[in-house]
Amino acid sequence: MKIGYYPGSFDPITNGHVDIVSRGAKLFDKLYVSVSVNPSKQTMFSTEERVKMVKEVLKDWSNVEVVESNILTVEHCKILGASHILRGLRAVTDYDYEFQMTNFNRKICDQIDTVFLMTEGQYSFLSSSSVRELARFGGDVTPFVPAAIAKVVSEKFAKK
Ligand SMILES: Nc1ncnc2c1ncn2[C@@H]1O[C@H](COP(=O)(O)OP(=O)(O)OP(=O)(O)O)[C@@H](O)[C@H]1O
Ligand SMILES: [Mg+2]
Repeated sequence: MKIGYYPGSFDPITNGHVDIVSRGAKLFDKLYVSVSVNPSKQTMFSTEERVKMVKEVLKDWSNVEVVESNILTVEHCKILGASHILRGLRAVTDYDYEFQMTNFNRKICDQIDTVFLMTEGQYSFLSSSSVRELARFGGDVTPFVPAAIAKVVSEKFAKK
């Protein structure tokens, strides 16, 4: 059984992430989507909120399972039996970081390789940070995130 592991902060999950998951789910028998708990990174949504949102959006994919992680990616892959890390690539700006991470992970554990899916053209400009920025300024995020997420995002800002 081929098991993949797609890590990210999903703060919040966007249509770009969903596209990578839907395509990744066809490459692997099972795909773990891992929401990272990173105390050094300030997130807009708490770990619980991010996990809940990702679960809600991905609930219909039978071979996709949402987990959270506060350990090294390669360690978590070993525990879950994943052979490959899945990442998305948008532009050359992603390349540097991903190149460094991939090789670093390979140094830590040469059993686990990283595979990349190139963004769908329509999502090439889309990131969680742009969605957060847009929401902060009261913009409409509905074109960029699943409907259930747009609701959560606008509720968050209505409170502020
Ligand atoms: N629109 C997109 N198209 C393809 N891949 C994407 C897209 N958005 C995110 N990804 C990929 O998803 C993975 C997890 O990304 P992450 O959770 O950091 O999202 P992000 O949009 O980059 O968020 P942030 O802006 O907060 O860094 C990364 O491999 C990233 O390249
Ligand atoms: Mg990012």
